[in-house]
Amino acid sequence: MSLPEVDLSTQIAELLLPNPVMTASGCAASGRELSQFFDVADLGAVVTKSIMLDPRAGRPTPRMAETPSGMLNSIGLQGPGIDRFLASDLPWLVQQRARAVVSIAGSTLGDYAELARRVGNSPGVAAVEANISCPNVENRGQVFACEPYQAAKVVSVVRRELPRGVPVLAKLSPDVTSIVDVAESVVDAGADGLVLINTLLGLAIDPDTLRPKLGGVTGGLSGPAIRPVAVRCVWQVHAAFPDVPIVGVGGIRTGYDALEFLLAGASAVQVGTVIFNDPSAPVRILAELREELARRGFAGVGDAVGWAHRPVEQLATR
Ligand SMILES: Cc1cc2nc3c(=O)[nH]c(=O)nc-3n(C[C@H](O)[C@H](O)[C@H](O)COP(=O)(O)O)c2cc1C
Repeated sequence: MSLPEVDLSTQIAELLLPNPVMTASGCAASGRELSQFFDVADLGAVVTKSIMLDPRAGRPTPRMAETPSGMLNSIGLQGPGIDRFLASDLPWLVQQRARAVVSIAGSTLGDYAELARRVGNSPGVAAVEANISCPNVENRGQVFACEPYQAAKVVSVVRRELPRGVPVLAKLSPDVTSIVDVAESVVDAGADGLVLINTLLGLAIDPDTLRPKLGGVTGGLSGPAIRPVAVRCVWQVHAAFPDVPIVGVGGIRTGYDALEFLLAGASAVQVGTVIFNDPSAPVRILAELREELARRGFAGVGDAVGWAHRPVEQLATR
């Protein structure tokens, strides 16, 4: 029996997407490597590796370690810097007709302002994702995302520098006491949508060498191990602010996993770590998600968003 059609289109603030599956920042560079596996324009959007003002070499090696159902990475924000990104990576994405969501990262508010100004003035940018999980050199190295006031300051400078039609998505860290408080603060500061979540801070020690496994000692934990944390964050923020668009990310390996995020309240999802062992994962997950939605009788993505929050009596009538 053939499955019914599903409307996969979705909307994140003013950003209209043909489907809800994006790459996660840092897991597919600027998308070029993926183009040997599929057409990057088939995705909802390509989110680029967080770009900083200057070229960066990243942190000491080794930079990746496997953990149970997850991965620790301490890549650091290695990258070509904004000049090369704007001259080469962004035009390539635009030429592919992909929707480019440009992730920016800075060490100061001034960095974020300059990055937003330059990215915002470049043609073909669908949205800017502010990666605020970076140390603030002007505030004792405290991570912007871990403090609601500092997180909001980043978002307000980015919002101020961008043209009105370019949405700002704030990507939050789960390493906070209350993700809802940070979400409220950045939305008040002008975030058009939220990306939940970045990696969790972790550490692994090799009992044979008696040393930390990563050259940078600590690293970001990603992969299926963090999915329940990510789903919990999406759930809590959607419950508190049902009208704020959320992009869910963390440990998605299948369309079934992606559906879990929609049901929790995400309007789109990002696919990260799984790309390292299955580069075609984003398009596979999209096809699987379509099937999962159709099998449950959802006519479109929008119908599934936040469904799990409905009271049980309503679920029974479905
Ligand atoms: C190797 C690696 C590099 C990453 N680089 C970035 C980055 O540059 N900017 C960012 O916002 N997130 C970065 N992330 C976090 C991912 O975008 C994503 O939020 C996180 O890995 C959780 O999703 P996943 O479990 O599907 O990987 C990186 C993750 C990995 C594994």
